[in-house]
Amino acid sequence: MSLLRTASRQLAPSRQPFIRAGAVAAQQPWNRGYATEKKIGGFGGQKQANGKYLVSLIEGDGIGPEISQSIKDIYAAADVPIEWEPVDVNPILKDGKTAIPDAAIESIKRNLVALKGPLATPIGKGHVSLNLTLRRTFNLFANVRPCKSIAGYKTPYDGVDTVLIRENTEGEYSGIEHHVVDGVVQSIKLITRAASERVLRYAFQYAESIGKKKVRVVHKATIMKQSDGLFLDLGLELSKQFPNIQFDSELLDNTCLNIVTDPTPYNDKVLVMPNLYGDILSDMCAGLIGGLGLTPSGNIGDECSIFEAVHGSAPDIQGKALANPTALLFSSIMMLQHMGLNEHAAKIQKAAFDTLAQGKYLTGDLGGKAKTHEYAGAIIDNLK
Ligand SMILES: NC(=O)c1ccc[n+]([C@@H]2O[C@H](COP(=O)([O-])OP(=O)(O)OC[C@H]3O[C@@H](n4cnc5c(N)ncnc54)[C@H](O)[C@@H]3O)[C@@H](O)[C@H]2O)c1
Repeated sequence: MSLLRTASRQLAPSRQPFIRAGAVAAQQPWNRGYATEKKIGGFGGQKQANGKYLVSLIEGDGIGPEISQSIKDIYAAADVPIEWEPVDVNPILKDGKTAIPDAAIESIKRNLVALKGPLATPIGKGHVSLNLTLRRTFNLFANVRPCKSIAGYKTPYDGVDTVLIRENTEGEYSGIEHHVVDGVVQSIKLITRAASERVLRYAFQYAESIGKKKVRVVHKATIMKQSDGLFLDLGLELSKQFPNIQFDSELLDNTCLNIVTDPTPYNDKVLVMPNLYGDILSDMCAGLIGGLGLTPSGNIGDECSIFEAVHGSAPDIQGKALANPTALLFSSIMMLQHMGLNEHAAKIQKAAFDTLAQGKYLTGDLGGKAKTHEYAGAIIDNLK
C-alpha cells in the first residue's frame, strides 16, 4: 500500500479528496507554493534620474479630484520624492467586457504603484465594477486594512490598533454560480493552495515589517472543513517558517463577538482571512474607529499595488470643498511605507494626527467647519 493511501486512511473523511487528488494536482498552478525566501508583494520600483519615483495617480470621480489635490499639496510641502503621473481609467468595452484603457495599464505596470481616488460604478451601461476590474487586471491578491483609533476624534472605541488582511481574488467572490433547477441556485466558494499561501505568507511578512508579534487566521473550518480547512492548515504549515511570529486561529463568529466587546486584545495581531469574511469584518472594524471616511487600504499584487480610500465618490458633496481627504491621505501613507519611504510617511502621519487631535480644522463629517483645503493647509502647517 502506498504511503499516500496509508495517510489518507488516517484522515477525517472530509479531508480525503485532497490527498487522493494530491499526486496529480501537486503539479498544477493552483497548487504551486511560493519559494520560502521570496518577498511577497514587495515594491520593485526604481527612482528616475531626477531622484524621484513616478507614481500613477487615479484621481477618480466625484470628490476624487478635490481630495487628490490635498494629497498633492501636502506631498509637495513635505518634499516627498514622488512625481504624480495622472491616469485616466474611464472604462472601455473590449470584446464586450469592461476593460481599463491600455495607457492606464501601461502606466501602473511601469510605475508598479498607484494611488487611487474613489470610482463611481456606472449603472446600466454593461460595465462591471471598475474596482473589481482593477483588482483582476493587476491580480491584487491581498487587501490590507489597518484599523487604528485617531486621538482627538471620539469614536465608539479608543485605543484600537489592529490590521486585517483579506484574500482578494477567490473564495466566495470567484463568481461561479449555477442555476441548478427552478428555485435552486448554487454558488461556489473556491479556495486554492496557491492563492491562500500567497496571502498567508504576505500576512506573516507584513506582521514582521510592522512589528506585530502575532498572526491569526479567522475562519469557519468547523463548518467548511475542506475550503477553510485548507486555508487554516496552510497557515499552520507556513507559521513554521516564521518562528518570531506567534500563530493562532479563531472562528469568525467568536472574532466578531470578541472584537466588539473589547478590540484591544487584537492590537498585537494581524488578522488574515478568506475573501467574504475579510469584506465584512474589515467594514465592521472601520465602524469601531469612526467609519469608512477615515479608513485607508492597500491592494497588494505580485508586481503592482494600488492604495485607495475605502469610501465612495460622495456625489452629494462633490465640488463643495466639504470632502475629507484623510482616508486617501492615510492610504498614501501606506503607499509610502510600501515603497520604503518611511521617514516621509512618519512625518506626514504625525502632521495629520496632530491636526486631527487639535480639532481646530476638521471637515464637516468629523463635526468641524473647515473646507477641504483648509484642513490640508493645517496639516501642511503641522509639517513644520
Ligand atoms: N472604492 C471605491 O471606488 C468605491 C467605494 C464605495 C463606493 N463607490 C462608488 O461611489 C459612488 C457613491 O457611493 P455611496 O454614496 O454609496 O458611498 P459614498 O462613500 O460615496 O458616500 C456615503 C456617504 O459618506 C459621505 N462621504 C464619503 N466619503 C466622504 C469623504 N471623504 N468626506 C466626507 N464625506 C464623505 C458621502 O457624502 C455620503 O453621505 C457609487 O457609484 C459607488 O459605486 C466607490
